[in-house]
Amino acid sequence: MNTKIFKIEDPAQNGRELAEAASILRSGGIVAFPTETVYGLGGNALDPAAAAKIFRAKGRPQDNPLIVHIAALSELEVLCHDVPDEAYALASAYWPGPLTMILPKNECIPDETTAGLDTAGIRMPSHPVARALIAACGVPIAAPSANLSGKPSTTSFAHVLRDMDGRVDAIIDGGTSEVGLESTVIEFDSGFARILRPGYITKEDIEAVLGEGKCLIAPGVREHVADSERVRSPGMKYRHYAPQAPVLAVCGKPADAAREIRRRARGQTGCAAIVCDEYAHSLPCETIACGRSDDLRAMAHKLFDALRTLDRPDVRQIYAQCPEETGVGLAVANRLKRAAAFRVVQARRVYVVGLAGPTGAGKSTVCDFFRARGAKVLDCDGLYHEMLENDEALLAAIRGAFPEAFSGDALDRRALGRIVFSDGEKLALLNRTVLPLVAVRSEKEIEKAEADGETMLVLDAPTLFESGLDRACDLTLGVLASKETRIARIAARDGLTEEYARLRVEGGKGDAFYRARCAEIVTNDGDEAALKAQMDRINHIINIGR
Ligand code: TXA
Ligand code: MG
Repeated sequence: MNTKIFKIEDPAQNGRELAEAASILRSGGIVAFPTETVYGLGGNALDPAAAAKIFRAKGRPQDNPLIVHIAALSELEVLCHDVPDEAYALASAYWPGPLTMILPKNECIPDETTAGLDTAGIRMPSHPVARALIAACGVPIAAPSANLSGKPSTTSFAHVLRDMDGRVDAIIDGGTSEVGLESTVIEFDSGFARILRPGYITKEDIEAVLGEGKCLIAPGVREHVADSERVRSPGMKYRHYAPQAPVLAVCGKPADAAREIRRRARGQTGCAAIVCDEYAHSLPCETIACGRSDDLRAMAHKLFDALRTLDRPDVRQIYAQCPEETGVGLAVANRLKRAAAFRVVQARRVYVVGLAGPTGAGKSTVCDFFRARGAKVLDCDGLYHEMLENDEALLAAIRGAFPEAFSGDALDRRALGRIVFSDGEKLALLNRTVLPLVAVRSEKEIEKAEADGETMLVLDAPTLFESGLDRACDLTLGVLASKETRIARIAARDGLTEEYARLRVEGGKGDAFYRARCAEIVTNDGDEAALKAQMDRINHIINIGR
């Protein structure tokens, strides 16, 4: 099919194009056109064959009804019966605009348009081109969003062209849809309105007209409703808004969600994120800024465009920051969760600092700084030694690798020490055996700190990177000190000769190892004021990230 393109910015200026588009619609064709919410894929709502063409062009499931668009309130009486007073009150407040009302339909609307339902969704759009087009047709226009079924709705001409070129008779280019999300869909039930699909007109907006407590929210808006359950709005049960890559919706306070995404995206190739403007610069992946976190309308406007921008084969995972579900946030969160097929995680609140560094560098002093600002400190080395006492899984793993270190049921720690300290390969084997298990236990401690409402947890973890625990951290901090300082500290602390302390220092990992891996470094050569100044800087970095 050859798709005609009409550019109509102002209906008054583009009368000829408008008349041609209207004539296509009147003669049974289908035309994509702009509305203030999203682009619609229109056909004569009273013509069963036109409705069938719409379903075909979109690849839409047959049981998902179309919304009927009108240009004047008088059409409502013709199309529907038993229209409740609440509908008139809402029409007078929000029509023309992004509100669709489900009402008992008259015979004139064919079953093909409403998928056999005895109700129809009626909406009077406010977009000047949509209004002029409907008026010029002289018939109501049935129109779903102008996207291929399952894909994000279209909010610009370019999007429509990509999905619909060759599948429809014409596309009207009318610029970008201002709202960016589809209309709020409501039904009425003995004096109450019920939101089946949230949108720009919010629960609060509806209650401002009908009265406090008069607007309900259908199940399926906030959480997944099983396909088999009877869903009041058929569109709610289909996979929707989905780009090629899986989407994960990350809920929680904006800063917490941004950190959650940062941790997950670190080191992952082919991932991308949709986040609020404030956090866009700080993520280690392709990022689309979706408006400031306090500007939900901006987010609504940009969301589908962002999902479409990331709908590419090279993007293999998408993380999206989910707003709080109040006001327009309910609609944005609903679209995001559905794009994510309800794969939703709650962002962790506790801020985790991973502290690494060689022995004798003064990590404990740094831990004290964090304790003084309310952090809990987890001694991962201590945790390992505790596990050696009582962790069945750890002991079984060590027994598998080093049976000779056991006498009977008990681990002989001195024997294990003798085996690994003289043989680099054996030490590496021990690390491979125990470090993942220590990491898993440490992660449980992070979960516990989260559940306990801790605000900050510091992992004092000499093997932070070797165990992979760095991936669980919001900040990795290396503590370094000069060789001579460390030798003196170790000798004093462990009662060793200087020579032996020197051997220990030289046998360990050098500064370069930590400099290459830690996000931040502090040096602790015993000058308190110098360390404090560095810790002030670290605190500042942490404050920005929360
Ligand atoms: O903003 C919008 O509403 C856009 C523009 C083009 O107006 N249209 C739109 O249509 O989003 P569509 O077909 O993509 O979504 C219509 C939604 C679907 O979830 C459908 O199941 C529901 O409205 N719906 C339509 N008629 C209904 C009815 N009689 N009863 C229950 N739900 C209905
Ligand atoms: Mg749709």
